[in-house]
Amino acid sequence: MLPHKKIESALQAAVRELLPDADTSIILVRPCDPKFGDYQSNALMSLAKTRKLNPRQLATDVLAKLDVSEVCEKVEIAGAGFLNFRLKNSELVKNLEAAVRGEHLFFVKAASPKTIVVDFSSPNVAKPMHVGHIRSTGIGDALQRSLRLLGHQVITDNHIGDWGTQFGKLLLGWKQILDRPALERDAIAELERLYKTVNAECDADPTRLDAAKSELVKLQAGDEENLRIWREMVKLSQVQFDTIYGRLRVKFDVALGESFYNPWLGEVVASLLTRGLARESEGAVGVFSDGSLPPKEDPFLVNRDGEWIADPALVRKSDGGFNYMTTDLATIDYRLKTWSPDEIIYVVDDRQSPHFKKLFITFTRWQPDAAKKVKLVHVGFGKIMGDDGKPFKTRSGDTVKLGDLLDEAEERALQQVTEKSPELPEAQREEIARVVGLGAVKYADLLPNRQSDYIFSWDKMLALQGNTAPYLLYAYARIKSIFRKQEHPEARIQNPELILAASEEIALAKHLLNFGLTLEAVADEFRPNYLCNYLFEVAVHFSRFFENCPVLKAESDAVRHSRLALCDLTARVLKQGLETLGIETVEQM
Ligand code: ARG
Repeated sequence: MLPHKKIESALQAAVRELLPDADTSIILVRPCDPKFGDYQSNALMSLAKTRKLNPRQLATDVLAKLDVSEVCEKVEIAGAGFLNFRLKNSELVKNLEAAVRGEHLFFVKAASPKTIVVDFSSPNVAKPMHVGHIRSTGIGDALQRSLRLLGHQVITDNHIGDWGTQFGKLLLGWKQILDRPALERDAIAELERLYKTVNAECDADPTRLDAAKSELVKLQAGDEENLRIWREMVKLSQVQFDTIYGRLRVKFDVALGESFYNPWLGEVVASLLTRGLARESEGAVGVFSDGSLPPKEDPFLVNRDGEWIADPALVRKSDGGFNYMTTDLATIDYRLKTWSPDEIIYVVDDRQSPHFKKLFITFTRWQPDAAKKVKLVHVGFGKIMGDDGKPFKTRSGDTVKLGDLLDEAEERALQQVTEKSPELPEAQREEIARVVGLGAVKYADLLPNRQSDYIFSWDKMLALQGNTAPYLLYAYARIKSIFRKQEHPEARIQNPELILAASEEIALAKHLLNFGLTLEAVADEFRPNYLCNYLFEVAVHFSRFFENCPVLKAESDAVRHSRLALCDLTARVLKQGLETLGIETVEQM
């Protein structure tokens, strides 16, 4: 058992002895400022508060029952009732040695694994994937990888937008102005042209809009020809998506697009109507506020000029068509029946936050019992900005296509690699550039707190110094080069005895030990940035260690072996960590 888990369970046992009915699951320890110790728990303070106890007294009483002497030096009470723990060197050594033997890499599988559906990426058909899609795709992929690593059962689902109102216009365009050779050259560009042309015509001429609507109605009614064209459009888009996912190494367990749920949408609306949860309004059907929330928190209300007016969740349009909301309701229903998940998480732009609030409340009203068994979470994120402070665009003001962005990342990285290591063969430089370029884009997107907007900057994300993918990849490659210089790289495996004496060695070792804690925090709060920052600190600790503690020229064989083992563990944590962020590594840079 990892030391923080041992401390946690000893602490929980001590609290149970003192307060048998306390909910001890909230008693956790977290890494803390090394000034105070290695781990800290603040749980006793909230426990004291709810029970109106003196927190310092509670801490003293708990301490009297707590035995962590195997793992820690003397435990200290600090401030209002914090407990500070400092690891014993012997415990640190023991854990590092177990890792050297391959028994763990500082994390353990969840004791009670959950089943979690991760809904991410979810682009719309017939449109190019743009820079914004890196967000949902990258964050979603990092989260699903973290959850899987911790032993949860994960189902990734790409909820592709393949069944919206856009198809009316696309069908009309396809039938009247399709340029076949252009379609063969660049299908997405041609579909985009069809859409834009017809869309502009519809704005100017209501009869065109009616024509587009009737194509949509025909499609939804199952018209053979329209279905055939629609299928072709979906297939052409899928080729584009697959190319991008292939480059990004992103895979989905299922990709059940919106169209998949079409057969159930009528039933969803009928069921909401018969239960009195939805009603007609101006020909459409919607779910309205039930008044149970204060207006400010009620997603079914909006404030217009100081007045609260209804903002229903629409589930059927006045022309009989269904909405995004209807599909999402059917989707939850399907997912619960198919996988009985404990959680469904939606990695989607924060601008859709009102939609998800309405969705979760509506589902809960519709199927209260089923809703109790699942946690529905919107994992939102902010925008990518240009350095002018506006949403990131090309110089000519167009949205940046994701494919072009990835090309540019690789090109820029290739320039950099060629400058640094001109001696490497071209194929190897290209491979390094691919990993560095894509890694840089992904990492820059995962590093900020996901809810904040961030400024897209090639220079910043490709910098070899600072908290960037190139810096981490370089740190990894540097460690690998130590082993290339070593005559007997296997020596470290034969002799896993660790000597942790220098302060830099101890600091690095303690930091490695927190890998699992970090992964758990990522999984609990759906925040990959915790892992980015953790890995950066690993690299920083490593470089301090490497500057101050000679490895290959260590004073004795025993110290050299120990330091090589520390190098190897660092490399393994970096590689596993980057892989969890969806970033590949290279052995040489
Ligand atoms: N296709 C949607 C869009 O591009 C995102 C879908 C997110 N997932 C969901 N279940 N609503 O905006």
